[in-house]
Amino acid sequence: MGKYNFDKVWERTGHNAVKWDANPMAPRKTDPNFTPLPMWIADMDFATAPSVVEAMQERLNHPLFGYYGDPDRYFNAIFKWQKERFGVTGLKKEHIGYENGVLGGVAAVLHTLTKPGDPILVHSPTYVGFTGVLKNNDMDIVSSPLVQDENGVYRMDFEDMEKKIQEKGIRVAIFCNPHNPTGRVWTKEEISDYIDLMGKYGITVISDEIWADFMIGEGKKHTPTQSVSDLAKRITCAFYAPSKTFNLAGLVGSYHIIYRDDLREKILKTESLSHYNSHNIMSTYALIGGYEGGAEWVDELCAYIRGNMQYCEDYCKRHFHGVKFTVNEGAYVALMDCTEWLKETGKTMDEMLDDMAWCGVLVSDGRAFHAEHHVRINFACPRLNVEQMMERLDKYVFNKK
Ligand SMILES: Cc1ncc(COP(=O)(O)O)c(C=O)c1O
Repeated sequence: MGKYNFDKVWERTGHNAVKWDANPMAPRKTDPNFTPLPMWIADMDFATAPSVVEAMQERLNHPLFGYYGDPDRYFNAIFKWQKERFGVTGLKKEHIGYENGVLGGVAAVLHTLTKPGDPILVHSPTYVGFTGVLKNNDMDIVSSPLVQDENGVYRMDFEDMEKKIQEKGIRVAIFCNPHNPTGRVWTKEEISDYIDLMGKYGITVISDEIWADFMIGEGKKHTPTQSVSDLAKRITCAFYAPSKTFNLAGLVGSYHIIYRDDLREKILKTESLSHYNSHNIMSTYALIGGYEGGAEWVDELCAYIRGNMQYCEDYCKRHFHGVKFTVNEGAYVALMDCTEWLKETGKTMDEMLDDMAWCGVLVSDGRAFHAEHHVRINFACPRLNVEQMMERLDKYVFNKK
């Protein structure tokens, strides 16, 4: 038993949680005898780290909330976190900029460097938020599929990327590091090779590192994209978010790291035009609390999530035929591969999803992420929910009589 209690089941229904108040699988129906188990949108059914609440409470004790400048403590907290967690040194205040959300930052880079119709390189499976932003901005989505090796590990296909870069004249690429939804934690070598390829064609890289703190696989370590070379520092706009790490999406608040002055200034200019990208004082203190005092909590959190995924992996091996699941390297959302099961049973993806919805297992349809025959499951919940999910999948879906 660790210091923090991730087993605690919180009542979230009616407490401003879209995960619990909305049904992602509608119009599919849930039998009213089942309490819904929402395993979809990427927030956690855990209370945030105590140090986050303490920092916010401390700020609330001074009940004046007028216009303010970013306190040095905010930047120092980011320097500390980036150094201690990822080994980043040499970071300066000017390299860091507030972002309401990571997707807002992604959109700002797109607005700065591209025009509607321009081709943008992404990997598939693709985080549904990227697809949404790219579609909303009328961009041409150019997908390079990740390919599973003989051990089932997703790898980038460098030949395919280069071919598409040449054919389409790519100028901007989105890199998800670690990767949602496959959970890949890219190695330094993989990132270096990727950056070298992008550099060769003068491509600017948007590196979404929102999952950087979720090192789930034993011994995994996040490599910041910009840390691999000077070239990487020059061509990359990176985005981080304590909102994912500490479960603060409802508070809003992320940040970019952009080293190159001219690139950063252009993006800041775009962001300044809307006047809509400025801090909320409570989210500033939430970041401070998390980054100053939340390291131990994050370590325990990742270990707990690993346990949840291990439970699922073991259960699949023991009870399900044709359903593949392995513990992620990173991120708390993970893909379950139902390809073989669908083939063996002759069921369609929709029939399978109907059964899942019917017994209240509310997951994301893999097709929204360009992951055919997969579902995406959120494992950031008490173990009890995972146990219940597996039991229901067993009785009412994969071994349904
Ligand atoms: C890869 C990735 N990027 C961005 C986001 C959304 O970030 P934000 O809410 O800060 O826009 C998510 C949320 O799940 C995500 O998985």
